[in-house]
Amino acid sequence: MELNRRTVIAGAAAAGIAATTLGGTAQASGGRTPVKKLFGKLADGTKVYLWSLENGGTRLKVLNWGGVVQGLEIPDRHGRYVNVSLGFDNIDDYVAKTPYFGALIGRYGNRIAKGQFTLDGKSYQLSVNDGVNSLHGGKQGFDKHIWDVEPFTKGSDVGLHLYYTSVDGEMGYPGTLKAKVTYTLTRHGDWRIDYEATTDKATVVNLTNHVYWNLAGEGSGTIEDHELKIAASRYTPTDSGLIPTGELAKVAGTPFDFRHAKAIGRDIRAAHPQQVTAKGYDHNWVLDKGITAKPEHVATLRDPRSGRTLKIATNEPGLQFYSGNFLDGTLVGTGGHTYRQGDALCLETQHFPDSPNHANFPSTVLRPGQTYRSTTIHSFSA
Ligand code: BGC
Repeated sequence: MELNRRTVIAGAAAAGIAATTLGGTAQASGGRTPVKKLFGKLADGTKVYLWSLENGGTRLKVLNWGGVVQGLEIPDRHGRYVNVSLGFDNIDDYVAKTPYFGALIGRYGNRIAKGQFTLDGKSYQLSVNDGVNSLHGGKQGFDKHIWDVEPFTKGSDVGLHLYYTSVDGEMGYPGTLKAKVTYTLTRHGDWRIDYEATTDKATVVNLTNHVYWNLAGEGSGTIEDHELKIAASRYTPTDSGLIPTGELAKVAGTPFDFRHAKAIGRDIRAAHPQQVTAKGYDHNWVLDKGITAKPEHVATLRDPRSGRTLKIATNEPGLQFYSGNFLDGTLVGTGGHTYRQGDALCLETQHFPDSPNHANFPSTVLRPGQTYRSTTIHSFSA
């Protein structure tokens, strides 16, 4: 049986299960004002704050550094909460070694080949940070900056507006880009992300968020038994540097077919050449719905043991499914456990990687006078 969030919380209360957090009892609806506390300091003394939000049974913790989701707690079918998002308990580890845990990614989610592209006849060289390629915005992407944070409560919603202005030429990108990202927790416990950006010169933009999910709890082991469903008949195969070849290949008859829910571990060792290159799954799925005016449901992730289920809706045309292939047991997470290969997965809503170099991919160009808008809604149940 699929319970909705209200039932879970009410059930937990009826069963006398303590569901306390952030100094209070979890509420079924009507979130409280976000609260802020000091998390740590950067080397130059800049203070990093942790914002705590709660609504509809979901608890979200966000840093003003990189807009990082430092924790995200949801209940299982018995109302038991765990943190389902990988992270660190201190700022130094985020600065020194995070593989983008929970972070906002910009200006460009995923890779741009050789960090180069041409726009309106002009060539640009971006900051290169992944072999010869530019990954997630370059050496100091949006994930490595302090964002201005403005908390809000609106009707039954609570949330944070996050602002960052990337100056003309930063990481090699043209135009001053003003980005605004809104994290909302709804009264149903959905976590919604609205991205907006404007520019004063033609540029390319592809914003996303990089939560590493483990619905059994961060640090609890592999996600290979999680079941995943993606509404995509095609994906974008990559070369050895994980750059799309430009082909939109069919998933039918390959390990990349997630059109019906299947355990991630089922085909992860199928030795398909694309998996050998990526050390698992690290690809962009071409969503059947294409670009849509409103967010549409595109993926479902479920942990059968706990019942925790995540549904993702987006207006974007692509979804990067990364099966945590580069986690190697050297990072110690929030709960004091190491993170090993396959201990989490990312589902990043996006335009396709390296779009500026593929005329057949949906365009990521943003021009003065236009507003970039992207929305992703994460809904939870158990
Ligand atoms: C990419 C991976 C990369 C990871 C960074 C993902 O979005 O697809 O290739 O290693 O981010 O941790």
